[in-house]
Amino acid sequence: MADLGHDVLGVDTDERKILALTEGQAPFYEPGLAELLLSTVRSGKLRFSTSVADAASFAEVHFICVGTPQLPGSFGADLSHIETVLQGLAPNLREDCLVVGKSTVPVGTATRLAARLAELAPPGISAHLAWNPEFLREGYAVEDTLRPDRLVVGATSAEDDAVLRKVYTPLLESGTPYITTDLPTAELTKVAANSFLATKISFINAMANVCEVAGADVVTLSEALGRDTRIGRRFLSAGLGFGGGCLGKDIRAFIARATELGVADSVHFLQQVDEINSGRRRRVVDIARELADGTFAGMNIAVLGAAFKPETDDVRDSPALTVAATIRAEGAAVRVHDPKAIENARLAVPDLDYADDVIKACEGADVVLHLTEWQEYRELDPAALRAVVRSPQIVDARNILPLRRWQEAGWTVRSMGAAVPS
Ligand code: UDX
Repeated sequence: MADLGHDVLGVDTDERKILALTEGQAPFYEPGLAELLLSTVRSGKLRFSTSVADAASFAEVHFICVGTPQLPGSFGADLSHIETVLQGLAPNLREDCLVVGKSTVPVGTATRLAARLAELAPPGISAHLAWNPEFLREGYAVEDTLRPDRLVVGATSAEDDAVLRKVYTPLLESGTPYITTDLPTAELTKVAANSFLATKISFINAMANVCEVAGADVVTLSEALGRDTRIGRRFLSAGLGFGGGCLGKDIRAFIARATELGVADSVHFLQQVDEINSGRRRRVVDIARELADGTFAGMNIAVLGAAFKPETDDVRDSPALTVAATIRAEGAAVRVHDPKAIENARLAVPDLDYADDVIKACEGADVVLHLTEWQEYRELDPAALRAVVRSPQIVDARNILPLRRWQEAGWTVRSMGAAVPS
């Protein structure tokens, strides 16, 4: 927003994060963010505060961007962070304004929050709510924000919509499609998009399961399916499946909300999408166990990758860490490498060993697991790695490594969704 020319005040309750941000330091790894942050902080366009009251008196447009994680012990989304922001913001408003939700929420939330906002705002202040879901991908956050595929805005009046068109003027001028709709359609667009993406991944992973027993190859299948422009190749990579803070919790929250709305049957398939996805993690553990001669006891397992996907240090619901922790629990010594996520991984799963280079992670390994497809793993020298392992066996759980090169260097390579060697 600051880069688009607006004066921005960013608010968070975490003082350490605000301190770092004020100095132009991002509290997480995201390509391109450090430069953008530094330039906008230096220009004075972007400032930070821990006070919601400061924000309330500062702006005429307020974006709520807080998380909506899965509730413990339930499929539903935890909306308490949004509620807290609204309760802090609304009574402190000093002028008419627009509050815009960016968070992913169950359909129907925005309508309820709009009423709550009007109720909490001081007398004489007109505060409206709009919903503008965020579609950015981690690892491409800057690119997706400055050049999004589309903007979706749920608004209750043409005036509110006009405010957001004004906010996004530079993007609209560069041709970004802008879709105006009502509040529920805007909320649902995000949930439906993530459900579709998760379904596409689980579809190809289901095909991978079939390929393994039918002697077919899912990589070629993806390529061949993806050439059909109606299908498309993106999100059709079979392997270890999806993780992260969004797809899994969003499909579960959708199941919970659809059940409340009495249409559970319509999204029942998402349950299976989720099950196929967790099955991939178990499948990788099974393949690794097979390579370890049936038991992990006394085995050294090297794990390449801890982040839920490359180009991020986010380990929330990371398939790689789930596999690593499961194998550790079955008695192996597990040593994990990741180019960016080691610190977060150590906090999340402290009882794994961590190594800050790939060679160290693989020293003495009986099986190497390639679980997150960082570029540096594609460029590994299989011969150099072979010299340090105890047994040259690798599982390419992302179907990305140059198979032949590894085989020529003497490695046994198992990929996902290919015929199981007899
Ligand atoms: C997702 C949505 O893409 C984004 O629009 C939304 O705003 C937030 O959730 P993100 O969680 O950053 O974004 O990651 P994404 O790139 O969608 O990948 C999700 C997971 O799917 C990763 O674990 C990735 O490894 C996996 N994936 C992706 C596959 O297993 N196969 C694929 O073909 C693509």
